[in-house]
Amino acid sequence: MKILFLDQSGKLGGAEISLTDVAKPYRDHCLVGLFADGAFKDLLEQQQIPVQVLTTEQINVRKESGIIQSLSSVGSLAPLIAKVAKLARDYDLIYANTQKALVVGAIASFLSRCPLVYHLRDILSPDHFSRTNRQIIVTLANNFASLVIANSQATRTAFVEAGGRHEIAEVVYNGFDPKLYQNNDFNRQQVRQELGINGQFLVGHFSRLSPWKGQHILLEALALCPDEVTAVFVGDALFGEQDYVQQLHQKVAELKLEERVRFLGFRGDIVRLMAACDLIAHTSTAPEPFGRVIVEAMLCRCPVVAAAAGGVVELVDIGKTGWLLSPGDSQQLAQIITTCRNQPQQAAMIADQAEIQAIQRFELTAINQQISQLLHRILEPSKIKR
Ligand code: UDP
Ligand code: GLC
Repeated sequence: MKILFLDQSGKLGGAEISLTDVAKPYRDHCLVGLFADGAFKDLLEQQQIPVQVLTTEQINVRKESGIIQSLSSVGSLAPLIAKVAKLARDYDLIYANTQKALVVGAIASFLSRCPLVYHLRDILSPDHFSRTNRQIIVTLANNFASLVIANSQATRTAFVEAGGRHEIAEVVYNGFDPKLYQNNDFNRQQVRQELGINGQFLVGHFSRLSPWKGQHILLEALALCPDEVTAVFVGDALFGEQDYVQQLHQKVAELKLEERVRFLGFRGDIVRLMAACDLIAHTSTAPEPFGRVIVEAMLCRCPVVAAAAGGVVELVDIGKTGWLLSPGDSQQLAQIITTCRNQPQQAAMIADQAEIQAIQRFELTAINQQISQLLHRILEPSKIKR
């Protein structure tokens, strides 16, 4: 099966890391078309997945865009759409992984008669998207996509509630290769030394810096915990959230947390860093569509606490494979951190159970098999190009 994957981003967000895992089995017969250059292209090249940057033009549709702005930018996409439609003639299907990829992919699919699949990795709610953009996404998906793959039940439900056709929408969770998350005590000691941790309880936060990822909630919780509770923030502002970064640093100063907090920026050695943590906190204040970091923490056998909204509640079995908190509740987070610190045996049991369940539910080969079956369902076997 020959697939033309499309993604608007050059940056390495969760959608892009997940697409790398989806595309890998097709790497002999696929192309990943990007609408921007950057670290994502490098990752695909490292994995020997064919990649091409299809445009260098900035695409100016934002998640909160109104109708006029959205329509005028569709006009400016014409050369890119024409290029994709031409490329698509050599492929069995177009696989759009982001919203702008859906816009381009839908029209290109119409022009080239190449079927369209949309991998929906966002919750189409007012927290995340303007009304106009929700309408555009649903209209294009309903009219042009043969299949919508949602990254969680919550994502699928929001799609249907926004008017999406339920009969084309299927849930497939993200897949992970458990081997890549095996950790060891050597990593733990080494990283703790690098971070200057000497007996303190270390809470890790692994997310891009963005207001809705809620790094400020962990800072507020930290201020309510004893001094020996410290935190490390791993991740960078990927989409221009510089004001928020500044606010975070101000908050650290206001709460006098300078000695208890480290910001490491974007890192490529997540697994090693997770080994050093006693707890991983996921603090999104708006519903998280899936939350790769939560499953990664489980596979690293690190206890996890996460904000109970969106797909997260499908990942964490409360009290058995992790803790849940009400989104935005820093007091509750402080209590959970304290419980986890005071009851290391219970925390270890939860982490063990979480690792077992994560391997059972999110193993990459099985997940890729589910996607392959869905793709075969929408294509006529005699017409598959390879
Ligand atoms: N990540 C990373 N380095 C960092 C911060 C995050 O490699 O410094 C990875 C993280 O391990 C996860 C992904 O980026 O695989 C983020 O995906 P998630 O679904 O948690 O959130 P998103 O950013 O896609 O909303
Ligand atoms: C998006 C979502 C995130 C999800 C990722 C991979 O970036 O924000 O929750 O884990 O896609 O599907």
